Amino acid sequence: MTYRVGYIVGSLSQRSINRRLAKALTKIAPHDLELVEIPIADLPLYNHDLDDDYPETGRRLKAQVEEADAILFVTPEYNRSIPGAVKNAIDWVTRPWGSNSLNGKPAAVIGASIGAISTAVAQQHLKSILAFTNSPVLGQPEAYVQYTEGLITENGEVTNETTAEFLALFLNAFTEHIKRNLG
Ligand code: FNR
Repeated sequence: MTYRVGYIVGSLSQRSINRRLAKALTKIAPHDLELVEIPIADLPLYNHDLDDDYPETGRRLKAQVEEADAILFVTPEYNRSIPGAVKNAIDWVTRPWGSNSLNGKPAAVIGASIGAISTAVAQQHLKSILAFTNSPVLGQPEAYVQYTEGLITENGEVTNETTAEFLALFLNAFTEHIKRNLG
């Protein structure tokens, strides 16, 4: 059985190291994981006045999450938390009230930064949000990628063997997590 994983890149930057990381993950993914991007760059800011007539962008996003068996967040850390773009996407996905598309959806979090503790604090915040949205999150291994120049090429080739092995281990653990939660 192949599981469809929708991945969300938390950075809108063209030069994003997290986008490179996401590309690397799509290349390394085991045969039973299909990684498909769920884009968030064009979402307007969430506003609950729109709940009664949910805009097409919000409906499309929710549909993409619902079509996925699991969600993978590949995100930078901004000011020791998640980027506003990620929080905004989650707000859209979990509304209108009573139709939380993340409910019960297995999830995992990974991120890259040049900092020594990488994206650890942002990930803690995100995991706290995902507990509230009732999305079972992969606990181990934690995935804090400390990015150094050239670690991942523009095409998503990982140049360090230890990092490549770790990313494969992370995706295998995520696959097991999805299987455990979806049965
Ligand atoms: C950052 N950066 C950053 N890094 C970090 O490790 N912890 C942090 O709290 C922050 N805060 C932060 C805030 C803002 C507004 C920016 C723009 C950047 C640095 C960040 O890790 C670096 O810019 C990465 O390259 C961002 O990821 P992408 O966009 O390259 O994927």
